[in-house]
Amino acid sequence: MSRRDSTFRIRPMEGRDIPAVVSLDRRIFRDPWPESAYVQEIYFNPDAHYFVLELLDPTQVRTWHAHRRRQSARLLGFVGMRVEGTRGHISTLAVRPEWRGQDLGETLLLIAIDEAIKHGAHLVGLEVRVSNTVAQSLYAKYDFETHTRLHKYYADGEDALYLQARLNTDKQLCSRVRERLATLIEALQVSCVQREA
Ligand SMILES: CC(C)(COP(=O)(O)OP(=O)(O)OC[C@H]1O[C@@H](n2cnc3c(N)ncnc32)[C@H](O)[C@@H]1OP(=O)(O)O)[C@@H](O)C(=O)NCCC(=O)NCCS
Repeated sequence: MSRRDSTFRIRPMEGRDIPAVVSLDRRIFRDPWPESAYVQEIYFNPDAHYFVLELLDPTQVRTWHAHRRRQSARLLGFVGMRVEGTRGHISTLAVRPEWRGQDLGETLLLIAIDEAIKHGAHLVGLEVRVSNTVAQSLYAKYDFETHTRLHKYYADGEDALYLQARLNTDKQLCSRVRERLATLIEALQVSCVQREA
């Protein structure tokens, strides 16, 4: 799939997104989340900040009314982040396989880190499979370092690496995140919809 002629939108995940998110989650992860986990995060956790990345049908985005039509959007990926005190935790990140390698995963990661910064997080952490070198390479770009190895963290017995990036002691990282996010949003022509107050 190509991003040429595509229109992307990133917006807060809503309850109506859950069926498509669960379906993509099942396709991507060996240990997918049950629907109830997303319901809990979206409806009942005020500290959860989840976003979806959508492709807007380019033939339908020419008018404002069409732009607003829900059925014209297709889910390409999602990211989730929780703020726990001064810690941000990236709980999930995924891009549809046929849309990978086009900076979309990086954009979603940066949206989550930026959200953590906005909510006062001093550090941001996440778990990643030891075998997932693609995701580890992405996280290394933003100074995530291994804090702990979690023995048999996953249901199939694989270990996880718990990675952390320090936001309070690395102001350069915060600036780099924001500058790169702005560059990617412009280059990919992503429209970003903020959470309603
Ligand atoms: C991890 C994931 C989100 C990356 O999404 P993506 O859109 O393909 O990534 P991007 O195109 O934005 O690439 C960003 C960085 O990821 C790394 N990366 C992406 N594809 C890679 C590949 N095939 N090999 C090695 N590194 C790769 C690189 O560091 C890349 O930066 P670079 O372009 O400067 O080299 C995607 O592969 C995915 O959904 N994987 C399955 C779910 C998953 O593993 N989630 C993370 C759980 S912790």
